[in-house]
Amino acid sequence: MSLLRSSLRASSRIASRASTRSPLALRSALSVRRFATEPPKAAEPAPEPTPKPEPPSSGSSGIIFAALAAALAAGGYYYYSTTSDASATKGPFVPTYEDYRKVYADIADALEDNDYDDGSFGPVLIRLAWHASGTYDVNTKTGGSNGATMRFDPEASHGANAGLKAARDRLEPIHAKYPWISYGDLWTLGGVCAVQEMGGPTIPWRPGREDADAAACTPDGRLPDAAQGSDHIRNIFYRMGFNDQEIVALVGAHALGRCHTDRSGFDGPWTFAPTYMTNDFYKLLLDEKWHWRKWNGPKQYEDDKTKSLMMLPADMALVKDKSFKKYVEKYAKDNDAFFADFSKAFATLLELGVPFKTEEKWSFPASSA
Ligand code: HEM
Repeated sequence: MSLLRSSLRASSRIASRASTRSPLALRSALSVRRFATEPPKAAEPAPEPTPKPEPPSSGSSGIIFAALAAALAAGGYYYYSTTSDASATKGPFVPTYEDYRKVYADIADALEDNDYDDGSFGPVLIRLAWHASGTYDVNTKTGGSNGATMRFDPEASHGANAGLKAARDRLEPIHAKYPWISYGDLWTLGGVCAVQEMGGPTIPWRPGREDADAAACTPDGRLPDAAQGSDHIRNIFYRMGFNDQEIVALVGAHALGRCHTDRSGFDGPWTFAPTYMTNDFYKLLLDEKWHWRKWNGPKQYEDDKTKSLMMLPADMALVKDKSFKKYVEKYAKDNDAFFADFSKAFATLLELGVPFKTEEKWSFPASSA
């Protein structure tokens, strides 16, 4: 029951935003309805206040909002201006905070699409950012989002990356408009934008990835296999340099999106509000009863009550394993703790193996805020 309440709460929060704000939010509210197993009650709980973005500041957190052309210049980001935005000046083009903010805004505008999934490319953009980054190997210092090698075979055809062409293609017109941005920066900024626009926490981000060629493709097998359990999950994420708490925080992204039979083979969403980021993934894992789904597909769990939600064997490992479970319990109780830890771990993930030339990180305010 608590789940249903929280999905309704999310729904009313989205609806309240939708009335005054972004069409994506409205789309999200509609998609929430698609998964609600009961019609919304007449007396829904009052909408919670819309979270405000953190105000621009250059506080001690090291996150800076202001234009930092100087920092980028120090990083040697010289491009020749070919974009419509910077067409006034010919010559060396040094993108500033403002230029990246425009890219962010265009990605935000590209998220919604009635004809795609639950009305949003947000979840698949997060998956693109994560799969581009999660190939990192801390020992050999190979892989990661630097290089954006998923553009090429063999990496584009690795089983784990099935379906991510949809995300890459969605960002292509934005790359055409801002050709100075590297694909690694564009894809990771896409993940940041999608998290924030779907109601998630602010993710600090900085540019600095440079495109590589096919020779830098990582070998198959670096991303997790959803059919496996805690040993495998630890092997994969420890190889990136993460600990148990960070693993559990990151997998909370499964509050968003869905599995596709023509991609991973698995089927269905994890939550009732798959375009709105909450800690519902953890709540569902703990509160619902799950059984193996009887179907002609890979082994996955189905919830007893509605039979409309799913969990992967790898998701269920987070409650079967004691060390993982204590973080599932923590995040199920405390959405703020989840958001804070997710923000840190996701920002780290997107930076693995990138030789940044600047320490400062930026934050872009969510456009729906
Ligand atoms: C044990 C680790 C993980 C496993 C085994 C796993 C597995 C999967 C699988 C099988 C899918 C379905 C793909 C499809 O059929 O379209 C999926 C989707 C997704 N994953 Fe994960 N994942 C893991 C960790 C993560 C992490 C760390 C993130 C982000 C921080 C993430 C974000 C997502 C999102 C947003 C989707 C939905 C994509 C969509 O709707 O198209 N996952 N994951």
